[in-house]
Amino acid sequence: MNLTDRPRRLRRDGIRSLVSETRLDAHDLVAPVFVDATTDERVPIDSMPGHERVPVDEAVARVREVRETGVEAVMVFGIPESKDERGTRAWADDGVVQEAVRRITAETDAYVITDVCLCEYTSHGHCGVVEADAAAHPTLTVENDPTLELLAKTAVSHAEAGAEMVAPSSMTDGMVGAIREGLDAAGREDVPIMSYAAKYESAFYGPFRDAADGAPAFGDRRHYQMDPANGREALREVRLDVEQGADVLMVKPALAYLDIVRDVRTEFDRPVAAYNVSGEYAMLHAAAERGWLDLDAVAHESLLAMKRAGADLIVTYFAEDVADAL
Ligand code: PBG
Repeated sequence: MNLTDRPRRLRRDGIRSLVSETRLDAHDLVAPVFVDATTDERVPIDSMPGHERVPVDEAVARVREVRETGVEAVMVFGIPESKDERGTRAWADDGVVQEAVRRITAETDAYVITDVCLCEYTSHGHCGVVEADAAAHPTLTVENDPTLELLAKTAVSHAEAGAEMVAPSSMTDGMVGAIREGLDAAGREDVPIMSYAAKYESAFYGPFRDAADGAPAFGDRRHYQMDPANGREALREVRLDVEQGADVLMVKPALAYLDIVRDVRTEFDRPVAAYNVSGEYAMLHAAAERGWLDLDAVAHESLLAMKRAGADLIVTYFAEDVADAL
């Protein structure tokens, strides 16, 4: 056979790794950490094997475990001791995230990112302020503009507790601008914003909502999170966040949205983050538990695909396991 171009020549051991285009690196991974004010011991999260909600007293120990794997960054989520209509514990100076972040930054060298949202803090489980009689309305709406001020207050309180970056995830129009203004007014021009810029209304968040106790009590998030059918709209969302000062652009979920990761990489000059969400983690674990998939291999391959699509960093529940195996 007279084949001049034989790609297989470059696939042998030795040359294979020399020509590999993409590599996973512990430096690119962010490990989510759940801090829970309702418990004084670690509680395993059933649908996310290997993950736990930890009390504030264990937050430092939990982050040290992450650091031991070589992963440098954590994303802190909080479960407050109480919830109310407006989510007031989200911006409390002695709130669960604020307390945990204070300790983590004092006692570890981890880079601390906080998730800025109200859904874990509101009694109705929505990501913002809802209309007074929302539960009775089939077409509930989260009120956009009144939510902005609360998100800004929350972000500022995280920064004041020591958070090095804030990550707003509520899909409120104008959230990045409001938070940027709030941080700047508080003298925190130094704190970057990683915006959940293109966040879809996805069924892949199921296990997280158990983990963070943030499922909506009524209605759903379709009127603020994006329609999975839409790709062009993601670019519009991202463009708005760039205009408002987003420093890092996140696409979420990751695996089913790699086209969006690629589009955002191509269109914008900011770092791109992919959020490998709870359902993506749970499904690989469930299949591996049955002996149907090799967990380490599929986790590695999934994260590699996100990098190949254009992600600079990946928020993933696999962070520790993958970093350990590198
Ligand atoms: C809060 C938030 C959610 C996730 C991250 N931040 C839940 C949601 O939007 O319902 C999901 C993360 C995951 O599934 O791993 N708004």
